[in-house]
Amino acid sequence: MIDSTGAAGAGRAQGISESGGPGGAVIWLAAITALGGLLFGYDTGVVSGALLFLHDSFPHISSVQKELVTSLLLVGAAIGAIGAGRVADRIGRRPTILITAVVFVVGVLAAAFSPVFAVLLVARVVIGLAVGSASMVVPMYIGEAAPPRFRGALVSFNQLAITSGILVSYLVDYGLAGSKDWRLMFGLASIPAILLFVGTLTQAESPSWLVTHDREDDARRVLSRLRHAGAVDDELASMKEGAQRQSVSAREMLSPRLRGALTLGVLLAVFQQITGINTVIYYAPTLLNSAGLGSSAALLANVVNGVVNVGMTLVAIWLLDRVGRRTLLITGTCGMAVGLLVIALVFMVGGSNLTGSAAIVAIIALFFYTGSFAIGLGPVFWLLISEIYPARVRASAMSVATFANWAANFVVTVSFLTLLNAINGDGTFFLFTFLTLVAVVYFWRRVPETKGLRLEDISAQIEGRRLGPGAVAAQPGEGKAS
Ligand code: BGC
Repeated sequence: MIDSTGAAGAGRAQGISESGGPGGAVIWLAAITALGGLLFGYDTGVVSGALLFLHDSFPHISSVQKELVTSLLLVGAAIGAIGAGRVADRIGRRPTILITAVVFVVGVLAAAFSPVFAVLLVARVVIGLAVGSASMVVPMYIGEAAPPRFRGALVSFNQLAITSGILVSYLVDYGLAGSKDWRLMFGLASIPAILLFVGTLTQAESPSWLVTHDREDDARRVLSRLRHAGAVDDELASMKEGAQRQSVSAREMLSPRLRGALTLGVLLAVFQQITGINTVIYYAPTLLNSAGLGSSAALLANVVNGVVNVGMTLVAIWLLDRVGRRTLLITGTCGMAVGLLVIALVFMVGGSNLTGSAAIVAIIALFFYTGSFAIGLGPVFWLLISEIYPARVRASAMSVATFANWAANFVVTVSFLTLLNAINGDGTFFLFTFLTLVAVVYFWRRVPETKGLRLEDISAQIEGRRLGPGAVAAQPGEGKAS
C-alpha cells in the first residue's frame, strides 16, 4: 500500500477520487463492461445442463454431435479473440464491445430458436466469436480506464463476472431441469447481452486508445470523467509520453524488444489451461459421479465448487492491489498443485470407485484446488495480459495471448476423457500436478510485479528500461511496496 506520507500526492498522481476510492464513474464502467465476463462464464457453463435435453428436439443426436455443441464454442472463441484485437485497434474499444454485444444477442437467440441441429452448431460458433472477443476486450478496456492503484481489483471484476456466470448457469440448468427447457437455458443469456449493449452506450472510449490515435482533447474529456480533477493533466502527460516512447507497430510485436512479453502472455495463457481448471469446471459432476457419488450429491458438490470459485475471486479482488499479483499467483498455483496431488493420491490409493472418507477427501481437495485457482491464476492471467503490453500493440498482443488460452482450453477439453481412459484418474491428476509445478517455477522466474504501476511504466519495465516516476510498486523480491 501507499504509505501515509505519500498518500495524498501519490493518490492525486494516480487519479483516485477525493474520498480515496476509485470513483463512481470508473466502478460503473468496470461493472457494466464485466457483463461481457458474465456472458463468457454463462455461455461456457450452461451447455453441460442443456446437453441433457437436446435429444427432446433432436432425437437422433449422437455423442459426437453433443461434443461439437460444447467444443465449437471454444473454436469460435479462439477466432473471436484473434479478430477482436484488430477491430479494437482500428475502431476503438467501445465500438468493439458494442459489436460483441450484438453478436452475443444474435448467437444466443439463434441457439434458442434453432429449428434444425445445424443452426444450433452455427449458433454456438457465433456465441463463441462473441465470448472470444469479450474475453480480451473486457479486461483491456477496464485496464486502460482504471487508476493504477485499483486496477487489479477493477480488472478482476471480469473474473468475478466469469465465475458468477458459470455459477448462475449451473443454477439455471438446475432450475430448468424439470421443464427440460434447453432453449430457455441458452436464450436467457440475451438479457445480460442487451444490458451490456445499453450500458456500453453510456460509456466513453478508452483514454489510452484516444491518445494513441492522436485524439488528446477527447482523451482529456474522458479522463475528466474518470478521474479526480487534479489527476487529469498528470495522467495524460504520462500516456502521451508512453505512446511516444513505445511507438511500436503491430509488426514489431515479434521484435526482440517485445518477444519476452509476448512469450510471457502466451505461456500464462497455456498454463492457465493445462493445469486443468476446465476439466473440473466442465466435468466435475461426471468425475464425482464415476468416483462413487450419487448424481444429486455430485451436482450439489459442483454447485459448492462454483460458490468457492466466486468467493475466492472476491478475496483475490480484495488482495490484488494490496499484496500484489506475483505473490497471489505463486501462492495460488502452489495451492493448486497441493489440491491436484491429493486428488491423484486418493485415486491411486482408493481406486476409481471412491467411498466414505476417500470421497470426502477428494471433494475437499477439489474445492481447495478451485479456490487456489480463483485467488491466483484465474484473475491474474487476465489482469497481467491487460498490463504488460505497450498501448500500441496491446490489443494485438492480448489477442495472441487470448487465442492461446482458448486453443489450450480446446486441446485440454477434447483430450481429457481420452486421457482418463488411457492413464486413469491418478495418472491424469499426477500429470496435472506436474504441469502445475512447472508453472510455479516459470512464474517464480519470469512474472514481474505490476501492482500500483502505471501501464506505461510496466511495459517500460518489461522491455528492460528504467521505470518512470509513476512507479510505486516493488520489483520482485524487493520486499514491501511503498
Ligand atoms: C478461465 C476460464 C475458466 C474460468 C473458471 C477463467 O479465468 O480463463 O477458462 O473457465 O476462469 O473460473
